[in-house]
Amino acid sequence: MQNSHRRLCEEPLLPGDYPRIQAVAIELVIDKIVYGGDGIGNYNGVKVFVPYSAPQERLLVSIQVKKKDYYIGRIKEILEPSPFRVQPPCPYFFTCGGCHFQHLQYDYQLVVKKLIANEALQRIGKVSCLASNPKPAPRQWHYRNKTQFPLSPPHKIGYFQRKTHQIVETEKCLLHPTIFDSIRRFFKNSIKEASETIYDENRHEGNIRHIILRQGFNTDECLVIIVTKEERVKQAVYQELIHLDGTNIVGIVQNINPIKTNRVLGDKFRTLVGRGFYYEKILDKKFKIAAGSFFQVNTAQTETLAQMVLKFFQPQGSEEVLDLFSGVGTFAIILADFVKKITGVEINPIAVADARENLELNSIKNVEFFCQNAESALAKFNQIDLVILDPPRKGLTSELIRSIVGLKPRRLCYISCNPTTLARDLAQFDQLGYEATEIELVDLFPQTYHIETVAKIMPKQ
Ligand SMILES: C[S@@+](CC[C@H](N)C(=O)[O-])C[C@H]1O[C@@H](n2cnc3c(N)ncnc32)[C@H](O)[C@@H]1O
Repeated sequence: MQNSHRRLCEEPLLPGDYPRIQAVAIELVIDKIVYGGDGIGNYNGVKVFVPYSAPQERLLVSIQVKKKDYYIGRIKEILEPSPFRVQPPCPYFFTCGGCHFQHLQYDYQLVVKKLIANEALQRIGKVSCLASNPKPAPRQWHYRNKTQFPLSPPHKIGYFQRKTHQIVETEKCLLHPTIFDSIRRFFKNSIKEASETIYDENRHEGNIRHIILRQGFNTDECLVIIVTKEERVKQAVYQELIHLDGTNIVGIVQNINPIKTNRVLGDKFRTLVGRGFYYEKILDKKFKIAAGSFFQVNTAQTETLAQMVLKFFQPQGSEEVLDLFSGVGTFAIILADFVKKITGVEINPIAVADARENLELNSIKNVEFFCQNAESALAKFNQIDLVILDPPRKGLTSELIRSIVGLKPRRLCYISCNPTTLARDLAQFDQLGYEATEIELVDLFPQTYHIETVAKIMPKQ
């Protein structure tokens, strides 16, 4: 075991984009893992961040980066391993940026996530109510229903290395469906054979930027999105894909992103083959999801989230509900049978169009969706019973929180993919007379540091 740890630790853990300093090896004990996935230890009063480490491990660490207030190190040798350390099953784990926790037993990953979330809730949010044990994911591997492969010249297609835009070509990825590996291989060959160009982000030249794959886990439907810089894409790149064995590809879509940006998707979509959307089923509801619409990446755990919303609201049938950041209508449509009326607000017109179709698909009459910025939508309302909040990673604005509180809701359910912004927002709710009374964690992202936090918020007694 010790030898294999040593071998693993000889891998280049941090890519060479950091300013190099004379490599100094120090002995360090890891105190905890912080949001972002790194372990952290204290060396003569300076914090040292060490990727792929575990609490209570004694390590020999070479310092790669020295900043004024902290250092970044890399494991040179594990002197005393954590009993929760395991051999990462993926050979690319130490170079690919996709996973952070494959070196930890799954149960221990959940412990770490709970501690990270509770630390943020207490330190930033001063929240007195702590999160309970995370709901484990039914699948620890192959759970992602969506993957994004960046490309770089001459013919690389894979994932970004940790904290760089260097591409690691992974033959297979253990987080997504195995069919996505076959599709990746297909494109690697077809792009070359078609002599199509690959986008070079430094020169802002070349055409194909990303391949995005999405799958309905409960429908088996697969949607392929080719992101290009130019309006055109050679047909030879994709025309044979539909015949790939074992796939149920219902559509191939082109997304055009002509600008120099880190944003993956541009504004324009063009259906090349089949349809521009796929279907998914959650609980007993059916959802149409277009190439440009958000959907939670873990289908099984999306059901858990929806059940959590129901548990927190305990609706009686008479409630009026506001679903802010409503996407394709996931939570509103599942909740619709249990309340009087729901209004969803979503800024992305593609998602709003899906959400409206999803009402028809599920014969729902008591929900409506508005395509609007959440911040400006609240003026329409005087009072509301229940509010669902599921914002992007950056959380809510102060103005929005003030407007929500002005509607005097009896209960709110805040679903967050970032415990630090959730904690910040809960602190503001607290100042305005609302407090978190129950907090649950749902693991949508095994092998990574990410965790979904769901908070029930109520007026203070
Ligand atoms: C985390 S997703 C949640 C979507 C949905 N609740 C679900 O679970 O599928 C956040 C959604 O908020 C939308 N969004 C982002 N900023 C917004 C804003 N200022 N106002 C309204 N919607 C916004 C995004 O387009 C995205 O669909």
